[in-house]
Amino acid sequence: MHDYRPDKDLLKERVILVTGAGRGIGRAAAMAFAEHGATVVLLGRNERRLEETYDAIETAGSPTPVLIPFNLEKTPADDYYALGESLYREFGRLHGLLHNAAQLALLSRIDDFDPGTWNKVIQVNLTAAFLLTQACLPLLRRSDDASIIFTSDQVGRKGKAYWGAYGVSKFGLEGLMQTLADELENSRIRVNSIAPGPTQTALRAWAYPGEDPSRLPLPETIMGSYLYLMGPDGKNINGQTLSARPYS
Ligand SMILES: NC(=O)c1ccc[n+]([C@@H]2O[C@H](COP(=O)([O-])OP(=O)(O)OC[C@H]3O[C@@H](n4cnc5c(N)ncnc54)[C@H](OP(=O)(O)O)[C@@H]3O)[C@@H](O)[C@H]2O)c1
Repeated sequence: MHDYRPDKDLLKERVILVTGAGRGIGRAAAMAFAEHGATVVLLGRNERRLEETYDAIETAGSPTPVLIPFNLEKTPADDYYALGESLYREFGRLHGLLHNAAQLALLSRIDDFDPGTWNKVIQVNLTAAFLLTQACLPLLRRSDDASIIFTSDQVGRKGKAYWGAYGVSKFGLEGLMQTLADELENSRIRVNSIAPGPTQTALRAWAYPGEDPSRLPLPETIMGSYLYLMGPDGKNINGQTLSARPYS
């Protein structure tokens, strides 16, 4: 899967929503999906960064994306359902949903973990993914072939000291992925998780300030697994816990 070389038109005519599309892995995924023909719905908190992704997609000559400023921490549940309804009115269906946005916010032992920060991280990384999934399921059900990808992390598969709410939120996402994959087993929607390995982004730099980022792969180099799972070639994969690695 890491060496996957997709057709240029792999995602033609598909509509795919990406959270945290303004930078890092989310931006690279949005650009990769668009390069392969998808109309991408760019969702994120920072409008300026979303516009940069929007412009990069347009400059590349890919289908014009849609930009949705949306704060996953502060937005009430009803607005998630309103978003689903507005996507329904605009597109009628959705073929892909990449839950990518996340916050790390604090590395601390559990003894000292600030409860307000705990709630914020669980809201952005886990509860928002639940709400957005619920809001988008009616649209995904209208597609012949749909894919939901949750972005995990190794610290959400084996607990690691000090990763606190972030690590626990990723364990929660794995649980949400497995539960949903089982519920949708006989449907046209598949559900999987990808854990990117260490990748050159702001989140990684914040967690490992002493590390030389230039030694890490760029987000664009790990898109093989994302494209494979998002497109029809990944059709038979459901409920799997996967890892993304750079093209070898
Ligand atoms: N990089 C790695 O080494 C690595 C390793 C394992 C897993 N991951 C996972 O990969 C995913 C992408 O992370 P990244 O490394 O690309 O980090 P990043 O560059 O920091 O990107 C995180 C994205 O999430 C968005 N976001 C954060 N809080 C939000 C909120 N309240 N509402 C809406 N959007 C919000 C950010 O928006 P702003 O631009 O507004 O901040 C940003 O676009 C995450 O799920 C992360 O856990 C990354």
